[in-house]
Amino acid sequence: MTEIARVLVLGNGAREHALARALTRGAPNRQVFVAPGNGGTRGARIHREPVDLARRDAVIDLAERLAPDLVVVGPEAPLCAGIADALTEAGFLTYGPSREAARLEGSKAYLKELAREANIPTARFSVVRSYAEAERIIGERGAPIVVKADGLCAGKGVVVAATEAEAKEAARSMLEDRIFGDAGSTVVLEDCLVGHEVSVHAICDGERFVLLPPARDHKRIFDGDRGPNTGGMGVACPAPGVTTSLLDRIAREAIAPTLATMRARGTPFRGTLFAGLMVTPDGDPMLLEHNVRFGDPECEALMEMLDGDLAGLLASAARGALEPDLVSLPRDRAAAVVILAAAGYPGTPKKGDVIGGIAEAEAIEGVLVHHAGTESQDGSLYTSGGRVLAVTARGATFEEARVRAYRAADLITFEGKQLRRDIGLTA
Ligand code: AMP
Ligand code: GLY
Repeated sequence: MTEIARVLVLGNGAREHALARALTRGAPNRQVFVAPGNGGTRGARIHREPVDLARRDAVIDLAERLAPDLVVVGPEAPLCAGIADALTEAGFLTYGPSREAARLEGSKAYLKELAREANIPTARFSVVRSYAEAERIIGERGAPIVVKADGLCAGKGVVVAATEAEAKEAARSMLEDRIFGDAGSTVVLEDCLVGHEVSVHAICDGERFVLLPPARDHKRIFDGDRGPNTGGMGVACPAPGVTTSLLDRIAREAIAPTLATMRARGTPFRGTLFAGLMVTPDGDPMLLEHNVRFGDPECEALMEMLDGDLAGLLASAARGALEPDLVSLPRDRAAAVVILAAAGYPGTPKKGDVIGGIAEAEAIEGVLVHHAGTESQDGSLYTSGGRVLAVTARGATFEEARVRAYRAADLITFEGKQLRRDIGLTA
């Protein structure tokens, strides 16, 4: 087995900063490059490299220059565009699914049809390609009903419609006005489920997988799950209320059949499978979506939940020969993530404000502050995006992690800082 001495991480969020830090663990001399990275992705063994992830040739050129032993792809867009295939073809061991396997996230119709074929519990649905069809089905099914653009829409393509009129308007804007372009030329209409949501991640080698602890994201901007949706404002891990037997069911009923079906189709899934599920009031897990990469901010919490050689584990998955024993998942461990967002987020975020207090925050035991929308200039750090920092804390219990994360979050300063105060406390 080749030693993993150099790792290239593609992406620019707090997810990639957390991955980079975790990937340095387990080998004292390993170097990690983050491209394009952000204001925080540098240090003794972490290096930032500029690149445009939308340009496949530029990514390959960068890989050729850096000669990594492993490439880890963070975000979904390049995976859906086939970056893992291109890197693999160029001879680089790459953790992340092929373009075909990435359709699990890239097409909601593909996912729903796979769920039906594999008998994975999921909401009843119809796939439509015209507004006339959508209007008819919405009329038949009534509201509430969920309207989903088929393709990638940066988290904005799902409308949980309370009334028929709202559902029709959403379907019309996607199918006729094409507000999401081609991503909305096909639409999934599905029954509205109620319950509590949970995110379950699995590191997969095409056949076997390492199941990570369940996590719960908090999507709305304000406390009490009010206000508009965001990319995620914080995480509790393990997700409260998810028992071992429920997690077992999720692995058996949602993760394993997905991998088996993808394998049978000749497009095995190698990478992170991130299942988003609704647990119904009866306690049954229903699959809402699959993502083909780590969640952000879920990843920041998950990286605190495992010990050992993450790079070795991801490399073994990429090779198709998973070595689960390279990491351990201590039972007496919990993690909390509190996102610090800029004023204006999730609309137009304010940029260019000076950030202070990160060193003081990281002096608290168990705390790491991962960067998202930050830029450094002349030795100072400035806000440069909507989600600015992911304050992450581990603890022996969730309560310990939560208290540490909020103590740290309160030490960090920038103008207009927004955060939720109830991470891990909502139902
Ligand atoms: P998705 O990208 O499919 O997970 O949808 C994004 C969010 O929409 C989910 O995290 C849920 O909060 C919500 N959602 C999606 N599908 C449904 C459904 N069938 N019933 C209720 N809420 C849903
Ligand atoms: N936090 C949700 C996502 O990454 O999709």
